[in-house]
Amino acid sequence: MTAQLIDGKALAAKVREEVKAAAAAVTQKYGRPPGIAVVRVGEDPASLVYVSSKEKTARELGFGSWHHHFPATLSQGELLAVVQRLNADPLVDGILVQLPLPKHIDSNVILAAIDPSKDVDGFHALNAGQLFQGRPGLVPCTPAGCMRMLKEIAFDVTGKNCVVIGRSNIVGRPMAMLLLNASATVTVCHSKSDVAAEVRRADVVVAAVGVSKLVKGEWVKPGAIVIDVGMNRGADGKLCGDVEFETAKERAAWITPVPGGVGPMTIAMLMHNTVVAAQARLAK
Ligand code: GUN
Repeated sequence: MTAQLIDGKALAAKVREEVKAAAAAVTQKYGRPPGIAVVRVGEDPASLVYVSSKEKTARELGFGSWHHHFPATLSQGELLAVVQRLNADPLVDGILVQLPLPKHIDSNVILAAIDPSKDVDGFHALNAGQLFQGRPGLVPCTPAGCMRMLKEIAFDVTGKNCVVIGRSNIVGRPMAMLLLNASATVTVCHSKSDVAAEVRRADVVVAAVGVSKLVKGEWVKPGAIVIDVGMNRGADGKLCGDVEFETAKERAAWITPVPGGVGPMTIAMLMHNTVVAAQARLAK
């Protein structure tokens, strides 16, 4: 069997079109567009690429978009004051503080200071808790994008064995909760797990560890769905995922490529979250 590709690039374009229409409806109804403020501290080159892409997408979709960039010498207190100013700004519906932050700033303190109703990353403990309890809230963008991919291929996870590899707050844990809330049987693997054994019985594999080709194709159950969140630079300098793609695609029913899979979905879901946050705020 050769797997069908889940085309994240095409699906992200579709989500952006939906969000653009929703943003236009917000602007028409309330006289202003959804607004997102992205905060970047220091000169991390990858962060600059991500933030520029978020800003560009926000503008294309008709959002208000602000990029606040500060030198790495910004103090934690000064950054807290920035967050508080954005919390109070009526034109800002979404606040995203780009991670990683410089070492002298405790990112937990900063994330906890963001108004949960503007927390479009879904990283605040209140939103994480809402997700944990199966209640509505803002959901982290990458796992939300993975769920949207499963919806797109009309795959119902009810009662299915879903194996999440990785337990980060950004992807693994929220992914496990989203699958659980959708009635899947969920296993979360980490560095102490027998990953091969778990993958062999998985109907759905979500790999989010950041280790090149950790998941071997021969482990994949024939007909499984493989979602690869990894974005690694391989020994040959090429981008590759956490899954050995060439061999996994011979066994899976559906698989996401890297690049062009989960990656493009993340920013699209960020814009989705921002429009949802705007609708909630403005309806009050
Ligand atoms: N750094 C890498 N990915 C992310 C993300 O999704 N959100 C934020 N805020 N920072 C990141």
